Amino acid sequence: MLLASVLGCKRLELFLRFDQPLSASQLSDFRELAKRRAKREPLQHILGEVEFFGLKLRSDRRALIPRFETEELCEISVETLFPDRSANIRILDLGTGSGAIACAFASVYKNADIVAVDKSPDALSLARENAELNSLKNISFMLSDWFDGVDGRFDLIAANPPYLSEADVASAEPEVRNYDPKSALVSADGGIADLRIILSRAPDYLTSGGCIICECGLEQPRKLAEEFKEVFAQIEILPDSSRRTRFFLGKAR
Ligand SMILES: C[S@@+](CC[C@H](N)C(=O)[O-])C[C@H]1O[C@@H](n2cnc3c(N)ncnc32)[C@H](O)[C@@H]1O
Repeated sequence: MLLASVLGCKRLELFLRFDQPLSASQLSDFRELAKRRAKREPLQHILGEVEFFGLKLRSDRRALIPRFETEELCEISVETLFPDRSANIRILDLGTGSGAIACAFASVYKNADIVAVDKSPDALSLARENAELNSLKNISFMLSDWFDGVDGRFDLIAANPPYLSEADVASAEPEVRNYDPKSALVSADGGIADLRIILSRAPDYLTSGGCIICECGLEQPRKLAEEFKEVFAQIEILPDSSRRTRFFLGKAR
């Protein structure tokens, strides 16, 4: 990926150009990038971009690098919750970070009205750039502590909040520990505090029959399903593609 970026070509083209000698300046550029990666700077920050749900998003220190599991959250929503892509729905993305979830939904649901909130002004500035980069016009961005600045009700609320404990982060890979913003990773009470806040307030912001889908840490969906069983009409715990229970889905009464 680094070499392809220096040569300005696609990664697969490297195999066709395998015997091409590098110029002195290409070699020196490549060395600089390799040195940064050797210091465990994430590839996505070095390249400055990441692919998410078929979109190219800018990626830097301002927000969490969007993860594969979060693409799965978007897939579940699009394939099973709201398969009608022309639906005129309201969607709320809580803790939008780079804007990944909001941009993914905006690219699918052209008629939707999408609100994306974060309490980090840095993250919001990156999210706005990503919406612009992908010419997505139906997202409004808002600085807010979860629902505090949010008005009205939504057919779909999606959240990938911080859900790790301090100890989880201390033992994470340097790419995560040193480069993802800590405010995007860590939540109190062993990682579950923000999920509890979001789920307890969600019913006041969902339309009747509306859904909230949250990405969670491994043991959290079961715990939350037990705690919130009286709050939602229906709760499902959904696995990711590695069969780990990662998603909490609550349907409003
Ligand atoms: C795990 S990141 C998710 C980013 C993005 N949605 C994604 O999936 O890649 C969590 C995000 O929640 C934001 N956040 C943390 N606490 C918040 C709060 N109280 N209110 C709003 N956003 C918050 C962080 O700034 C961060 O951008």
